[in-house]
Amino acid sequence: MTEEEKQSKIDGAVERLRASQDPEKAAEAERLNAERAEHERIMTGNASGTDAARSRINPDFVIEDNPHAHIKHVIGVVSGKGGVGKSFVTASLANRMRAKGHATGILDADITGPSIPKMYGLHGGVIGDEFGSFPMTTDNDIEVMSMNVLLDTEDTPVIWRGPVIAGVVKQFWTDVQWGDLDYLFVDMPPGTGDVPLTAFQSLPLDGIVIVTSPQELVSLIVKKAYNMAQMMNIPVLGVVENYSYMNCPHCGEKISVFGESSIDEVASELNIPVLGKLPMDPTYAQNADNGICYSLDIPALEPADSILESL
Ligand SMILES: Nc1ncnc2c1ncn2[C@@H]1O[C@H](COP(=O)(O)OP(=O)(O)OP(=O)(O)O)[C@@H](O)[C@H]1O
Ligand SMILES: [Mg+2]
Repeated sequence: MTEEEKQSKIDGAVERLRASQDPEKAAEAERLNAERAEHERIMTGNASGTDAARSRINPDFVIEDNPHAHIKHVIGVVSGKGGVGKSFVTASLANRMRAKGHATGILDADITGPSIPKMYGLHGGVIGDEFGSFPMTTDNDIEVMSMNVLLDTEDTPVIWRGPVIAGVVKQFWTDVQWGDLDYLFVDMPPGTGDVPLTAFQSLPLDGIVIVTSPQELVSLIVKKAYNMAQMMNIPVLGVVENYSYMNCPHCGEKISVFGESSIDEVASELNIPVLGKLPMDPTYAQNADNGICYSLDIPALEPADSILESL
C-alpha cells in the first residue's frame, strides 16, 4: 500500500467513526487521529529543534533526525578547559528541568571521558530496534545516551581519532530514539576541538551554557567558548561559575578557594547573564560519586530556570 493510500484509508476510517455518536467508536477515532498525526510527523521529518536553531545550520552539516525523536530544545554545555565541573552542571541543570516536570534528556558528547552514567548510577544494557537505540532512563526519569553504557566494560578506553569520535556524536543524534523531549542537554568534551565543533555545526542548538571556575584565566577561557559560539551564530544563554566558594564547615565563613571571582565583570563585559555560582561542596561530590546526583538540591542554579524555560 502506498503512503497516499494508507493516508486516505485512515482518513476515511476517522470520518466514518466521527459520524457515529458511539463514545467507544469516538475514542477509536481519536486513536486513529493520533496515529495519523504521528505518521505525518515522522514522514515530514525535521521534527526536532526550533526553526531558529535549524536555520543556523549550514546545509553542508545537516544530519538526519531520528524518526522517533521530537526534541523541543537542545542546550550545549561547554567549557574552555577541563575539570571545571561541566558534567556535574549539565546533570544538575537537567535534574532541575526534570523536577519541574519537563521531559529531559542528556546526550553525553564526551566520548573519551564520559561521566554522566556514573553520576546517575547507570550501567550498560542499551537495547534498540530497526529505528535505532533506546536511551537509558535514570531513576529520576531522564533519558541518557553515553559511550559508557555502550562499552563492554566501563574501564575500556576509547582510543579513536577526532573524526571518528565526532561521528559517534552524530550517531547519538541520528540513531537514538529520544522520544518526546522538552530539553536535551549536550555534555560537551572540554575545549574547542573536533567534537564541540561538530556539535555546534550539526545539532540544532538553541544555545549554550558556559561553565567555568574562578581563576585568573577565566576571562580568556570564557571568551574562547563565547567567541566560538558567536562565530557559529549560536546564542550564549549564560555562564555558570562552579567551585565559586566554600563554606567553612566550622564557622560557616565563605572561603574563596581559587581567589576572588571575576565572573560578574566578565559576564557584564560579554553581556550574558550569570546563571549560578556554585559552592564547592563535598556532598555534591559524594552524591555524584554514588550515582545519586539527582537527589541534590542546588539552589544556586535557580537563575538558570527562567532562562531555560523562556526558550
Ligand atoms: N561544586 C562542586 N562541589 C563538589 N564537587 C564537585 C562540584 N562540581 C563538580 N564536582 C565533582 O568534581 C568532579 C569533576 O566534575 P565533572 O566531572 O563535572 O568535571 P568536568 O568539567 O565535566 O570534567 P571533564 O573536563 O573531565 O569533562 C566530579 O566528581 C564532580 O562530582
Ligand atoms: Mg565531563
